[in-house]
Amino acid sequence: MEKQDPAHVVIFPLPGVGHVNSMLKLAELLSHAGIKITFLNTEYYYDRVIRHSSDGFSRYMQIPGLQLKTVTDGLPKDHPRTPDKFTELIDSLNLAIPPLLKEMVTDSNSPVNYIIADGYMSHAIDVAREVGISIIYFCTVSACAFWSFHCIPNIIIAGELPIKGTEDMDRLITNVTGMEGFLRCRDLPSFCRVNNPMDPQLLLFARETRLSVRAYGLILNTFEDLEGPIFIGPLNAHLKVRIPEKTHSSSGLWKVDRSCIAWLDKQPKQSVIYVSFGSDAVMSRDQLIEFYYGLVNSKNGFLWVIRPDLISGKDGESQIPEEVVEATKERGYIAGWVPQEEVLAHKAVGGFLIHCGWNSTLESIMAGMPMICWPSFADQQINSRFVDEVWKLGLDIKDLFDRNIVEKAVNDLMVKRKEEFMESADQMANLAKKSVNEGGSLYCNLDRLVKDIKMMSL
Ligand code: UDX
Repeated sequence: MEKQDPAHVVIFPLPGVGHVNSMLKLAELLSHAGIKITFLNTEYYYDRVIRHSSDGFSRYMQIPGLQLKTVTDGLPKDHPRTPDKFTELIDSLNLAIPPLLKEMVTDSNSPVNYIIADGYMSHAIDVAREVGISIIYFCTVSACAFWSFHCIPNIIIAGELPIKGTEDMDRLITNVTGMEGFLRCRDLPSFCRVNNPMDPQLLLFARETRLSVRAYGLILNTFEDLEGPIFIGPLNAHLKVRIPEKTHSSSGLWKVDRSCIAWLDKQPKQSVIYVSFGSDAVMSRDQLIEFYYGLVNSKNGFLWVIRPDLISGKDGESQIPEEVVEATKERGYIAGWVPQEEVLAHKAVGGFLIHCGWNSTLESIMAGMPMICWPSFADQQINSRFVDEVWKLGLDIKDLFDRNIVEKAVNDLMVKRKEEFMESADQMANLAKKSVNEGGSLYCNLDRLVKDIKMMSL
């Protein structure tokens, strides 16, 4: 009998740490199941991040059946790709990618049966439809964030936007179905914080989310006990269950500083709060100093990730202030980039001061780690509301950066209400582990996805 070619899937994430990391995990799981993967990165992201990555990514280059390819994002080399330029990036990708993608998926030497595209790439749906193959969207944000993006047109039509200044921030939003009682203006995705309800970025998120229903399916990187319908995440937990012999760390633009683990080894059990604001968020020097005094005054130990580009401002202003470096030596540790999942699993860590990026939120949930949430942009605002108000896994201090508030929140989480938060974090982590283990709902959902992809190649 003639040997059947393996199913071949093209996976295309948006160029960003949170997007590429989670979709690479999916790529690894699918190739472990015998599916051939072509993983696309933009040239810019590949040159800036992957090529220089001292760890993490190189592992993916050695996985049999998984090849990394690059494509242009259509923007000039020196064009900024910061989160505030997101609309320009998406518009450019929508123009540049379709012909390249079409050529790639119809290549008779290596025909593609399936596309898995990041949730903001409607152009990929058009290509898939034109050439007659299946496409699934991968949603890197939470289901609650996805749903709020989906409801933006309803909010606009109902006149609930724009938000009329800071005094209007606590107004309840009534047009995100299912969240009527607790979703405030301040919890909406950050791009809702605009004066004009016709703002291009706001409309882009609304449009792209609505277009996702044209895809054949939608993969949500989350789990039922947390958020409802059919999901397959958290992907890293799947990797640990299915390929336990390998380590599965996340990557980034910065060199991983492992010395923090030796420092953690010397700290008492659950005495340290881990502080990180993800891969893109920035803060002013004033905000950083308020966080710093809040942490020091709380008298708890802290491990703080201060990326080289965390502090916004011109040269000199963006350095870590000397007073912070000096006084930190007493009970804290500063690192540029850490092995986050290893840190969260360390016995010395008892809390996470987090920006609520979805990958970090899931990693924290899997580690049974209570959170203090200080969201920065996009989906992070709504994730933090859910962490506090719905899942009871921590405290939401969004829009506040006063040292007294930080100190109080750290002491509430790490000391006064420690048992309460630890108990609910523990319960949620157990539910997640149960569904990802063999026989659990997430385990079965992932098997279903693999079966479906393989069917397409028959
Ligand atoms: C942003 C969005 O907020 C997020 O919700 C969206 O899905 C992707 O873009 P980002 O700032 O990258 O996310 O945060 P997050 O999604 O949490 O991803 C950061 C990743 O970097 C995590 O996997 C985390 O483990 C890793 N990380 C972070 C490290 O490995 N080391 C560090 O020191 C800090």
